Amino acid sequence: MEPIKRTELVDVDGIPCLKDTADNWQRLWAFKARPDDLLICTYPKAGTSWIQEIVSMIQHRGDPQKCDQAPIHQRIPFIDLFPPKRFPHGLDEAEVMPSPRTLKSHLPVPLLPPSFWEQNCKIIYFARNAKDSAVSYFHFHRMNKELPEPGNWDEFLENFLMGKIAWGSWFDHVRGWWEAKERYQILYLFYEDMKEQQEKDRKYNSGSQMDPAREIRKVAQFLGLQLPDQVVNQIVQHTMFENMKVNPMTNYSSIPSFIFDQTVSTFMRKGTVGDWKEHFTAAQSEWFDDACLRLLGDSSLVFRTEL
Ligand code: A3P
Repeated sequence: MEPIKRTELVDVDGIPCLKDTADNWQRLWAFKARPDDLLICTYPKAGTSWIQEIVSMIQHRGDPQKCDQAPIHQRIPFIDLFPPKRFPHGLDEAEVMPSPRTLKSHLPVPLLPPSFWEQNCKIIYFARNAKDSAVSYFHFHRMNKELPEPGNWDEFLENFLMGKIAWGSWFDHVRGWWEAKERYQILYLFYEDMKEQQEKDRKYNSGSQMDPAREIRKVAQFLGLQLPDQVVNQIVQHTMFENMKVNPMTNYSSIPSFIFDQTVSTFMRKGTVGDWKEHFTAAQSEWFDDACLRLLGDSSLVFRTEL
């Protein structure tokens, strides 16, 4: 197969998007959401695949075999990604999918197709702190040959802070969705809370006590489902980092290596809170803390960068 070319970014209403997304903008904007759609929305590298697999397991009442019928990106179409021609578009897949659909998007609030608001669809937003998101996005740019060249770490970090990367500013994204949750049916969750639960579950499972698996229950409740402890426990186990890392339905090993070169960096890379400490200099960390204070300080949005 001939190698694919790294894409350029094109502004859509001032927000940098992948060129193929911008080229298909009219079609995406006209997308017809249905009232029973569930949308999973994230800034890239917030742990989208993790929350997708949790949702999928909840929908299948904890039956891993049902989730194993197809890779996660086929079960939950990514509506704003238009990969090279030889691969199916999430939008095409979504359009022919029977209801109820679960869909994925990285769009910021101003770019979400209006039908999602008009239909008052349920939306799960999964957010991750800026520092770990930046590290994860940097490594993802290195291995994903569709994304623009990331440059070196210092260059990438500067672009991240300025919002000059695909899907725009992390700050505008997390803040926009935080504010939107006051007006719409949005469950806003944090990677760090989910990770804290994962760590507790790991400890509890080696002993006799059952952890309430708080974050997974929040998702089930939002979907109107009450799950028995045993099912919740199965979901916890199935979605542990180390299990998703070796699961071909969740580790993106089905994407050919000329697109995702997992010899450069694995998709399921580290899955931790605080990996940023291995990458940021003291000055860069201060720079990010200042930006968070300046750009989020007057909102009630608080991120944890360590557990
Ligand atoms: P790292 O690169 O920090 O390891 P997305 O799915 O939005 O692309 O996000 C990918 C990030 O989420 C990666 O972060 C990946 O390791 C992490 N992730 C995916 N599944 C996870 C899980 N079950 N537990 C913890 N982290 C997970």
